[in-house]
Parts: sequence; C-alpha cells; structure tokens
Amino acid sequence: MAEEIRFFELNTGAKIPSVGLGTWQSDPGLVGNAVEAAVKVLHFIGYRHIDCAQIYGNEKEIGLVLKKLFDDGVVKREEIFITSKLWCTDHDPQDVPVALNRTLQDLQLDYVDLYLIHWPVSLKKGSTDFKPENILPTDIPNTWKAVEALFDAGKARAIGVSNFSTKKLADLLEVARVPPAVNQVECHPSWQQTVLRDFCKSKGVHLSGYSPLGSPGTTWLTSDVLKNPILVTVAEKLGKTPAQVALRWGLQMGQSVLPKSTNEDRIKQNFDVFSWFIPDDMLSKFSEIEQASRLHSKQGRLVRGMSFVHETSPYKSLEQLWDGEI
Ligand code: A2P
Repeated sequence: MAEEIRFFELNTGAKIPSVGLGTWQSDPGLVGNAVEAAVKVLHFIGYRHIDCAQIYGNEKEIGLVLKKLFDDGVVKREEIFITSKLWCTDHDPQDVPVALNRTLQDLQLDYVDLYLIHWPVSLKKGSTDFKPENILPTDIPNTWKAVEALFDAGKARAIGVSNFSTKKLADLLEVARVPPAVNQVECHPSWQQTVLRDFCKSKGVHLSGYSPLGSPGTTWLTSDVLKNPILVTVAEKLGKTPAQVALRWGLQMGQSVLPKSTNEDRIKQNFDVFSWFIPDDMLSKFSEIEQASRLHSKQGRLVRGMSFVHETSPYKSLEQLWDGEI
C-alpha cells in the first residue's frame, strides 16, 4: 500500500502540504490561471500549498486569484498554505515588516503560513541588479530577529530560510530564539542534499525542495535531470513520467516538493503522486543518480548564485556562498 504523504509536520506543529505549486518564473498573465487550476485540480482536493516570493513579481496576480477562490468558496483561507520570501534588499530589520506587509497586501492576506529569508545575501535597499557595489555584508542574526517579531505578531505562522548551507543553518540555529521551521533549497534526484537533509532531520528543520524537476524550462541552465537514465528506467517500470518519479522520490525522502508549471496537464500530472510509490529496490538506485549526473555534467547545483559572488562582495567564491556544498 502506498503511503499517501500528503503533509509533513513542522516544528510549530503546523502541517505543510507535501506538494506545493512553484511560481518562480511563472509569467504574469499565466500564474493566476495556474494557481486557479492547481487549487481546483481533481475538483476538491487540489494543491493546498502555493510557493510565492516578492521577487517573483507575480504576488498581486496570485492575490487576485486567491481572493476569488475564497469568495467563491472553492477553498477556505485556513485550508491553504501560503509561503512567501523576504528579498535580499529588505534585510535591514526596519525593512523586514514593511516587506512582509507589501507581500500581504499583494496577496490580499492577513498572514502567510511560512515566511523565509530568500537568500543569505544582503543587497542595497532598492537595488535592482547584482552589481558588486550592491552586495552588502550580511547580518543574518539581526534580520532573523526582525523575522521572529513577525512570527510573534502572527503575521507569519512559521518562519524559515532558503538557500542556506548546512553551516549557515547551524550558525542560525545557534542564535535563533525561534528556530527556523524550514530550509527551502534546490533538491532533486541529481542534487540530493544528503548532508543537509540529515542535518535538518536531526534539528527538526523541514527541508523543502525547489526546482524538484531540475527546472527543465530555464534557458540559462543546462538541466537534464528528467533525462537521467536511472530515473527514466524507474519511470518506465512504474508506468509514470520521470517528473512524477522525481517528485515522488522527494516525498519518500521526507521533503516537500514545489514543482512549477503553468500548464494545466502538467499541473495535474505533478499532483498525481499519492496513490503509488517507488519500491525500496528502485529507491536505492537513486543514490547512483547524483554521482552519475555529476560525472556527466561536472556540476551539481543548478541554481548556483553566481551573481552574488564577486571579488569585492562578502562571498568571494561559490565555495564560500555554499560553505563547500557545491
Ligand atoms: P511548464 O510551466 O510549461 O509546465 P522546476 O519546478 O523544477 O523549476 O521545473 C519547472 C519547469 O518544468 C517548467 O519549465 C515547467 O514548464 C516544466 N514542467 C513542469 N511540470 C513538468 C512535467 N510534468 N514534465 C516536464 N516538464 C515539466
């Protein structure tokens, strides 16, 4: 019998739905339809988790659709889990509540279920590019205090981070009054985050995986995650698509997955991951995928954060940004 794995429990006691709709690179004009289709998929029990961020530039459109879904009685606010993220230009403690208020206004909500520091990188307030002079030293403990205040105020029901290495997460856990509930990071069969996942598990931090399909549509990435021969073979054996198997692998590893799609068929396909499972003998094959894919492409991570790395910036190399996890 397949365990459905519909939710994971956070250290706040809240339940995070295991499959969320990603909205990174979902174009304005398309994202609203995608959110509506996702929530309505299968008529009653569609996606109940939407992963947003201010920097994606589409929160207003998502807010309009959420309001319509609430007004039409398709879903109640308390039945849906909304994540958003603090952009790097708003790390100054006094800017943190302002940024969340802007997000809440755009999403037409009183609270988010989860608010994340988007990157361990600070950018000059108001800057719109990653020129070296815009990259500032970070003060995560201070930014985190301001995020904790949003948690205390109930405007963020859970708080966490994104793109934090194991070391950066450990450093934050040392000083946090409210421990982060989530670290949202790139995670898929070709970049499995084994060390970080084990660390998160030991500390009660939930790992949430972005780019769970390896972002095949991103033109500036060379992604062949879904073409990996082991993944393709498992998919053929199970009569599923490689995308479905990649997502189900994530669920069975204990992480929530955030596939992005604006295509209704693929939105449906990506949600059809509950009534079947990857048997242990096939699951064990996945440990070979990361190694094989590294040998083939000589690269692990797809979203590397190169823009944040510069001779004069606090992170002078990718090694420093990811503390060696690259
Ligand atoms: P589209 O929006 O046209 O469906 P990720 O979530 O890893 O960033 O991947 C998102 C990319 O994967 C988008 O380009 C999306 O395109 C595409 N995609 C989403 N679902 C599937 C699927 N089931 N099979 C193949 N590609 C998919």
